[in-house]
Amino acid sequence: MPVTASSADPTRVPRLPADFVWGASTAAYQIEGAADEDGKGASIWDTFVRRPGAVLDGHTGDVACDHYHRFDEDVALMRRLGLDAYRFSIAWPRVLPAGAGKVEPRGLDFYDRLVDALLDAGIEPTPTLFHWDLPQALEDEGGWLNRDTAYHFAEYATVVAERLGDRVKRWITLNEPFVHMSFGYGFGVHAPGRALLLDALPVAHHQLLAHGLTTTALRTNVPGAHVLIANNCTPVRLRSDARADEDAAAASAYDVLHNRLFNDPVLLGRYPDLSPYGMTDESWGGIVRDGDLASVAQPLDGLGINYYNPTWITAPADPSGGLPFDLAEPEETYERTAFGWPVVPDGLTELLTGLKARYGEALPPLWITENGCSQPAGTEDQARIDYLAGHIAAVAEASARGVDVRGYFTWSLLDNFEWAEGYHQRFGLVEVDFATGLRTPRASFAWYRDLIAAHRP
Ligand code: BGC
Repeated sequence: MPVTASSADPTRVPRLPADFVWGASTAAYQIEGAADEDGKGASIWDTFVRRPGAVLDGHTGDVACDHYHRFDEDVALMRRLGLDAYRFSIAWPRVLPAGAGKVEPRGLDFYDRLVDALLDAGIEPTPTLFHWDLPQALEDEGGWLNRDTAYHFAEYATVVAERLGDRVKRWITLNEPFVHMSFGYGFGVHAPGRALLLDALPVAHHQLLAHGLTTTALRTNVPGAHVLIANNCTPVRLRSDARADEDAAAASAYDVLHNRLFNDPVLLGRYPDLSPYGMTDESWGGIVRDGDLASVAQPLDGLGINYYNPTWITAPADPSGGLPFDLAEPEETYERTAFGWPVVPDGLTELLTGLKARYGEALPPLWITENGCSQPAGTEDQARIDYLAGHIAAVAEASARGVDVRGYFTWSLLDNFEWAEGYHQRFGLVEVDFATGLRTPRASFAWYRDLIAAHRP
């Protein structure tokens, strides 16, 4: 069935299996607020938002949605939606204020209360252990450029698993190591604000090593743990006027750096060839050590996919600019989100079927761990409904073509702190008035609730 974005009636969206998991996603720094409360240490985002010009209009996550104090209200909203699962992230500096060493029990207590509230509401807690808020004390030691950070991460994960592992079974180690590496360390537009271009590549390996070590820690400490990583993936597209040689080579380079760099080691136990980018031997000059890839590639219970849109690529206009590609605009006229991102639901089918074609038997079940759009303020958000309808239909299409997809978590439950854009981009099923904290469900909230209900046996 062709994927269209017109299925506004939730009962007309193609069906997914009855045991399909319906969820919503958020992240700690984007919603919690309470940035300096109950012993929490500073994260790199607490530091970065204070850098002049780093975030639009100088917005910060100091208060955000004040979820830290209003989580009961938010769980009540999730219950109204009928969610099966809720993906949130745990703030490392709330649990270990300096990243390592002393544990802050009040930080753990918060997540303990949240987990209990979710379970009382019949919603499966699905925590992500790292969604970009690295403790500043570890950044001061080099952050993810420093291999030690991977070991500290596994120790932090162990502390959390020991406290929550009796009730939490499904865990996500990292959120989008690609975006954290490229935006945070490559281009400097996210915390920690370092613009190292391809010299940021060690950040990829140290995050993936952290994923591997943490997978072991979770399996050791949580009987029956179900472990995933959430990778941002994009189908890479060429324009129709692309040149077969240099544009195709640029697209392939982009695919390596965005997609394969983070999927190949996890699924195949090896990195794609990075010799054009300075990593001329397999050990990346000693960064990838014996045994690392075995840890990174240990079996996973699922692969989380965060999808927003395809990426169009051309060869770099300035080959001396330091990167082997330029981002291009599609020639087609797509609907655009408030962010200006093209709305391309069939890109999600292309992505999921493409992963199956590329990785075959090595591909574990897939989970859409993020998908959603920013739309203008207001609660009459037909465009968001169309976006969700189109993308959920795209997942159903991939499923019908034999891809094993187990769940869909929309981004996001609430309007929240959208990183460098501050509060200017609104991704929520629920509108948030950031002056008062007032939550108002949008039309998409009722639509998603009805879609979930329509899937119930
Ligand atoms: C991130 C979210 C972010 C969303 C929209 C994803 O890359 O994981 O934190 O809000 O995209 O930009």
